[in-house]
Amino acid sequence: VNGQIQIPVVVNVLYRTAAENISLAQIQSQIDVLNKDFNATNTDYNQVPALFSGVKANVGISFVLDQVIRKSTNKTSWGTRDDMKKTNRGGLAPTSPTTKLNLWVCTIGGGILGYAQFPGGSSATDGVVIDSKYLGTTGTATAPFNLGRTGTHEVGHWMNLRHIWGDATCGSDLVADTPTHNAANYGVPTYPHLSTCSGTPVEMTMNYMDYTDDRGMYMFSLGQKARMDAIFAVGGVRASFRN
Ligand code: ARG
Ligand code: ZN
Ligand code: CA
Repeated sequence: VNGQIQIPVVVNVLYRTAAENISLAQIQSQIDVLNKDFNATNTDYNQVPALFSGVKANVGISFVLDQVIRKSTNKTSWGTRDDMKKTNRGGLAPTSPTTKLNLWVCTIGGGILGYAQFPGGSSATDGVVIDSKYLGTTGTATAPFNLGRTGTHEVGHWMNLRHIWGDATCGSDLVADTPTHNAANYGVPTYPHLSTCSGTPVEMTMNYMDYTDDRGMYMFSLGQKARMDAIFAVGGVRASFRN
């Protein structure tokens, strides 16, 4: 539609318990959140402070549920070493990973909400993993991570976004219009939260690529949009997703 990127999403559900075999409604609620957050139609978008209103972005990428694949397993947790993506480890191999976003839903363990593969990696492991307790907005989704923002954050990584604090004290996220944060933020910080880094800027704690609770994050920036657009442009690492 209008040259927009629309991403088919294959959801791979690996379950041991009945609760882990999440409902289609829970899966669809995550797709709905992705569509809102990446198109600036999330209801909290208007909470972005005036200081950042000039850089808040409508990314303009949409998502459509392509298929759900379910597999019963006897694993209690899957960790973060991609076992869930491998048939010979009891997992499910990705479906058409160069043209579809594969999402694995399983119990990860270790307090990990989700993780993603950056562009440029092996297609055999490409996609995002989200713990079933933090996927979407209904069913087993658990507060304070029950607004689907783990999905938004992980898909941001999959589209080449770094953490806003650059994974280092006053690190860089390679985006010019996001302030330098001294570290990850948790919970829901009170605005304004000042950085201790050079220039002591007000931190953009409401950015999806910080570590706040789901209700504390509700924007991407124009610089982040530019990084994501570049990945899908002709010649970009994910150009195969163009229709
Ligand atoms: N990669 C992060 C983790 O595994 C996900 C953080 C998502 N944050 C959120 N508010 N949902 O912990
Ligand atoms: Zn992250
Ligand atoms: Ca920055």
